[in-house]
Amino acid sequence: MTTKKKTAKKSGKAPAKKPVVKKTTAKKPAAKPVEQKSDPDHAIIADYNGYDYKKIFWEDGKRDYEDLCDRLAVRKLLPDTMDDFVDIAGGYGRLADEYISRAKHSTIFDYSKTELADAKKTYGDRITTKEGDIYNLPFENESFDGLMMVRATHHFKDMPKVIEELYRVMKPGGVAVIEIASKKTLPKMFRYWFKKSDINPFSREPSYLKELEMYNYHPKYMEDLFKKQGFKILKVLSVSNFRSPKLKKIFGTKALGKMEKVAQPTLAPIRFAPSIYYKLEKTPKNA
Ligand SMILES: C[S@@+](CC[C@H](N)C(=O)[O-])C[C@H]1O[C@@H](n2cnc3c(N)ncnc32)[C@H](O)[C@@H]1O
Repeated sequence: MTTKKKTAKKSGKAPAKKPVVKKTTAKKPAAKPVEQKSDPDHAIIADYNGYDYKKIFWEDGKRDYEDLCDRLAVRKLLPDTMDDFVDIAGGYGRLADEYISRAKHSTIFDYSKTELADAKKTYGDRITTKEGDIYNLPFENESFDGLMMVRATHHFKDMPKVIEELYRVMKPGGVAVIEIASKKTLPKMFRYWFKKSDINPFSREPSYLKELEMYNYHPKYMEDLFKKQGFKILKVLSVSNFRSPKLKKIFGTKALGKMEKVAQPTLAPIRFAPSIYYKLEKTPKNA
């Protein structure tokens, strides 16, 4: 197994400092092995073990605005009541207070022992934690009627496999809230137009930002993938529309939050923001 240090900068997505990214083959599921195809060699795990994501990225990074944006979206999109809910790549449970009261049983799934231990410390018996790799989820088919995955797609190269896994573990009719790191943003358009970047934000293929070691996805690419897998798109939100250090400084979190609340549904049709949120329903694959 090879390892290399992550060189992430402040991107609003990738951690500001150094989780280790390692190439891996399948990691054994923690419980109840489920028959799976073996993971492709190119699957990459961004290893947050030993990395203080909460303090370094959120607190020191002063990302109150981004946190508020995620909360506004999640509040709007998650069902009011659920039986079995899972937060995929849920980290230390940053958003757990948004779903715990809506679900009879909440699970946080993540690769990082450090993150899961933090989650357990904060929420105790109110959550179950489960460790494993997204490419081989350690859950039986049709385990959950509610699922969420936020701020994780930028780590995943094999997105069709990820979406297939999420679909597999959901109950028919279940609702998933999935956030994607969009490649089609205004700053990326300017960088492309002014020849500062070769990445064409309008083309649908996924992009890889080498210096940040992260993947970005075109909303239409993701939407095709969701539909092909059997997910029906119920609602879309454009999230973190004003993610700019200057705007944050001028307006502050409270005022930007008010503007954001209006912008999330209004700008959704043009998929404007760096974060696009989807509310999806699991339908039969060939429906
Ligand atoms: C940017 S954090 C987001 C955490 C949380 N969803 C949030 O919004 O605060 C990304 C998370 O993905 C997890 N992760 C990365 N690669 C993974 C993989 N292959 N399988 C499972 N979790 C993974 C990391 O451990 C980390 O907790």
